[in-house]
Amino acid sequence: MFEGMKQAYLPKTRFPKRAVDREKCEKCGRCVTACPTGGIIWGGDGFPEPIGFGGFDQACINCWNCVAMCPTDALSMEGSYQVEAGRYRTMTTGRMSPPDPLGNGQPWKKIEPELTEVEKVLYKRRSNRLFKKKAVDRALLTRVLEAGRFAPSGGNNQPYKFIVITDQAVIHEVELGAIGVLKRLKNLYLAKDGKRRLGKSSLFTMLSLFMVNKMDPRPFTAMDKAEKDQALYWHAPAIIILCKNTRGIANPDLDIGICAQNMVLTAHSLGLGTCYIGLAIEPLNYPHLSGLRKKLGITHPWEAVTSIAVGWPKGKIDAVVSRDSVPVEWIEG
Ligand SMILES: Cc1cc2nc3c(=O)[nH]c(=O)nc-3n(C[C@H](O)[C@H](O)[C@H](O)COP(=O)(O)O)c2cc1C
Repeated sequence: MFEGMKQAYLPKTRFPKRAVDREKCEKCGRCVTACPTGGIIWGGDGFPEPIGFGGFDQACINCWNCVAMCPTDALSMEGSYQVEAGRYRTMTTGRMSPPDPLGNGQPWKKIEPELTEVEKVLYKRRSNRLFKKKAVDRALLTRVLEAGRFAPSGGNNQPYKFIVITDQAVIHEVELGAIGVLKRLKNLYLAKDGKRRLGKSSLFTMLSLFMVNKMDPRPFTAMDKAEKDQALYWHAPAIIILCKNTRGIANPDLDIGICAQNMVLTAHSLGLGTCYIGLAIEPLNYPHLSGLRKKLGITHPWEAVTSIAVGWPKGKIDAVVSRDSVPVEWIEG
């Protein structure tokens, strides 16, 4: 039991192997800029180099974004990302595979023509973290919001409020408010130089008992990147904050998730890039940011649940990637 608790602090983790093919790499730096965990830096030889962070071998969550966005297919990943022990043990199976909706193991090129347009967007959509400095018209943003309005919700309650921000100064205010909180949280775990703070291990473990999701160490590398960049929204021209009516029927958080995904898929079908940004939202609900919440129109009964960065993607982003397999139980008649 104690071993499991200790491993809340620095869980034993297996990472995928990442490699950069130096013959193919054109040193464009897309992977360095957009890796969500700051897990790729410029190496001494001028090529991108996968690195670790804060006591972990690698700073990687196996999202494959670097592979998807590389214009010359120079990046490769092999193996899965698994927290092997402790409270945060991974519950997926560790079997990585590309989409196989037809269940025949065919390569994507063969499968794609068989799929509906919805399925194609669904498999090819990747989170976009490289945005052009180009505004998105209000008409297009309205089209995205409208897809959210028609999402299914428990009791058709539509427990949502949407806040669309294109004013860069206000977006930055939200980012800075969040970064202040994230920095403090990260410092519980890591010293300024990114090393683990062994002295804090028992405090961290205690907190993880009561705040299990919030203390999961996996986003800490992303927090460090946000602090260095002083940004969370990847310089997107627009963001949408989705708020729930806390008095909504049954499970307004779930309703918001469904609503948000309607927006994300619609945006992608329109050629826009999106990225959910949760890191900016949790801190927004902290008591000391009540002034900012008021400014944004988030007052009782509203509560921010998630947010989406929206903009025009810079270069190639959407692509089919491999994913871990989740447990499936079939109870057939
Ligand atoms: C609720 C939620 C919150 C997220 N928060 C962030 C975030 O704060 N910053 C970020 O860069 N990506 C964030 N992501 C994006 C995930 O990292 C991404 O969806 C995941 O790695 C899979 O990659 P894909 O979207 O390209 O398939 C979030 C995703 C979800 C669903």
